[in-house]
Amino acid sequence: MKNLTVVDHPLVQHKLTFLRDKNTGSQQFRALVAEIATLLCYETTRDLPLTDAVIETPLMKASTKVVAGRKQVVVPILRAGLGMVDGMLNLLPAAKVGHIGLYRDPETHEPVEYYCKLPDDLPERDVFVVDPMLATGGSAVDAITQIKARNPRHIKFVCIIAAPEGLKAFEAAHPDVPVITAAVDDCLNEHCYICPGLGDAGDRIFGTL
Ligand code: PRP
Ligand code: URA
Repeated sequence: MKNLTVVDHPLVQHKLTFLRDKNTGSQQFRALVAEIATLLCYETTRDLPLTDAVIETPLMKASTKVVAGRKQVVVPILRAGLGMVDGMLNLLPAAKVGHIGLYRDPETHEPVEYYCKLPDDLPERDVFVVDPMLATGGSAVDAITQIKARNPRHIKFVCIIAAPEGLKAFEAAHPDVPVITAAVDDCLNEHCYICPGLGDAGDRIFGTL
């Protein structure tokens, strides 16, 4: 996939190891998801445009840079994407938050839509869609399609683990949307779970196992 960034920073890989571990409980799992989201956000925003600024340090005037006033919105795919919101907002405190509710039908693995609430001013905003897992890609593809219908300025998709099958489907549907992930795993199993993966992200975040 061309539009893919794999964030293999040592801190991300370290935290991902504990996230994958089946002995990690919900409290620690939630904290790790949030921390990894912050680190992914740092990479996701690497290309934000800057503009010139002049300030006074305690010593003298200085010509420097600030982010060029772009508005952002973080859009979690419910439920598991909620776990990444605070981590993203750590670095983007002024961002708005939209919500897209989707779940995978357990039989067909197709996404089922149940909620969509997005800010009205998407044409003025960069959108960061967040979901820890890109498995078949069905949920992410559907979410991005819903968002594109509102003409956002720009979209990126941020996840923690992606499967090769999901990346292929995503690229086929939305080749213009960059994907940022902490890992690309081996494959999907017969239930469309990512292997080795981390299990069911929503259940592990919310303790509904
Ligand atoms: C999980 C995950 C993604 C989706 C990925 O959500 O958080 O949204 O599956 O799978 P896909 O790429 O095959 O669509 P799930 O449907 O389990 O809902 P939940 O977050 O509410 O538990
Ligand atoms: N959703 C999850 O939470 N985990 C997977 O491995 C696949 C879909």
